[in-house]
Amino acid sequence: MPDTYAAIGNPISHSKSPLIHATFARQTGQDLSYTLIEGPLGQFSQTVDAFRASGASGLNITAPFKLDAFAYANERSSRAQLAGAVNAMKFDGDRVQAENFDGLGLVRDIQENLGSPLRGLRVLMLGAGGAARGAALPLLEQSPARLVVANRTLSKARDLATLCRPYGVIEPISYFELASERFDVVLNATSASLRGELPPVPAEVFAPDALAYELAYGKGLTPFLRLARNAGIRRMADGVGMLVEQAAEAFSWWRGIRPQTRAVIEMLTVPLKD
Ligand code: ATR
Repeated sequence: MPDTYAAIGNPISHSKSPLIHATFARQTGQDLSYTLIEGPLGQFSQTVDAFRASGASGLNITAPFKLDAFAYANERSSRAQLAGAVNAMKFDGDRVQAENFDGLGLVRDIQENLGSPLRGLRVLMLGAGGAARGAALPLLEQSPARLVVANRTLSKARDLATLCRPYGVIEPISYFELASERFDVVLNATSASLRGELPPVPAEVFAPDALAYELAYGKGLTPFLRLARNAGIRRMADGVGMLVEQAAEAFSWWRGIRPQTRAVIEMLTVPLKD
């Protein structure tokens, strides 16, 4: 029987993970099965217990279970600890190892696929919620010149800076203070795009030739990307590369072999246009 993996979430039917992992498995000659589990709300532990009891090897976790997965695991990476959330688990008897590959996937996408090494760049991240927490440590590890975090609720940006202090400097800032600042990379890690909203970021924050990156995936030209385009920014990306790269990280962790991502990203790309 092939090793079995799954993604758990609620809802989950929209997930691209089975397609991504099946493509990776074909490409690398790995024999595995990857399915979807629509986890009943409030029953994460029981559902994962049953999956493990069936002999499963690993699991991806998406909304709303990333915090439940953090609590369920008994070995957590520093990335997962800082994010306070888990998006991948590996099972080995009683061991439940937990990781958070979202931020690593983001960084790989920016650096390897979009050709912007972050070292020495001025980076602005909008948002200080779960997505931003997952990205903070992998971003800091690249030694940007600055990592500024803007959030509506400034106290949450300050909390994130405090949490990350052992790893590097995050500058918390309110949206009002951004008008006189310029950045080489602007990341939208808020959930605003999911509701078609625009964070109150001034269009002047984009340095000439800046990269505008929307962490959400498959929404086309979001209000944030439209703001960037109208400010004359040509380098724009959404989170499709991040999605595929975090999957590649999980695949490598589970199988010990790194898949190629470019063709999978191209297959899933939704054009960024009106
Ligand atoms: P996620 O896990 O997707 O990050 P979250 O933890 O609920 O979701 O965090 C949502 C983030 O998006 C927060 O930083 C939130 O700002 P506040 O902390 O001030 O609420 C931000 N956000 C959501 N809608 C926004 C909007 N319309 N404008 C600006 N920021 C927004």
